[in-house]
Amino acid sequence: MLPIALEKEIAESEHPKELAVDVMMAVQEQYGYLSDAAVDECAGLLGMSPLEVDELATFYTFLYREPVGKYVVHICDSVICWMDGSESIGEHLCRKLGIEMGQTTADGLFTLLPVCCIGYCDRSPAILINKKVYGPLTIAKLDEIIDGLKAEKNAE
Ligand code: FES
Repeated sequence: MLPIALEKEIAESEHPKELAVDVMMAVQEQYGYLSDAAVDECAGLLGMSPLEVDELATFYTFLYREPVGKYVVHICDSVICWMDGSESIGEHLCRKLGIEMGQTTADGLFTLLPVCCIGYCDRSPAILINKKVYGPLTIAKLDEIIDGLKAEKNAE
C-alpha cells in the first residue's frame, strides 16, 4: 500500500511516470525489494509497462531487483574514496562477511554493493549502511560498526 500522499499525487498528476522513482521506493519499502510482482504493481500504478519500470529500477542504485539483506552496505568506489583506500575496505568487508561484492550473507543480514560517489568525499573512504553514511573509515572502525550491527541482531 502506498502512502496516501503519494497515491494522491499519482491521481492528480498529468504525468504519473514522473513519480516512478518515488513509487518504486515506496513499493520496495513494503516488500524489501522489487520482485517481478512488485514491478508489475508499480507499472499498474504508473500507467507504464513492466519493462519500462524494470529499466528504471535497474538504473537506480537504491532500487533492488533481488532480495537484499537487513543491512545494505554501499561501498563508494569513486576516485576520492579509492585514493583513500576504499579497495581495502571492500576487500576486508568481503573477507569478514564471507561473501563477494553483490552478494548477501547466508543469514540475510548484510548485502555488499558498490556505489559511485555518494557525495561524502570529505569523509572518504566512505560507505553507506541503509543510507546512513560512515566515514572516514579505517579497518578498525569498520569492524566496530559491523560487529555492532551483528550484536544488535543477536540481542533481538
Ligand atoms: S568519492 Fe567516495 S564519497 Fe565521493
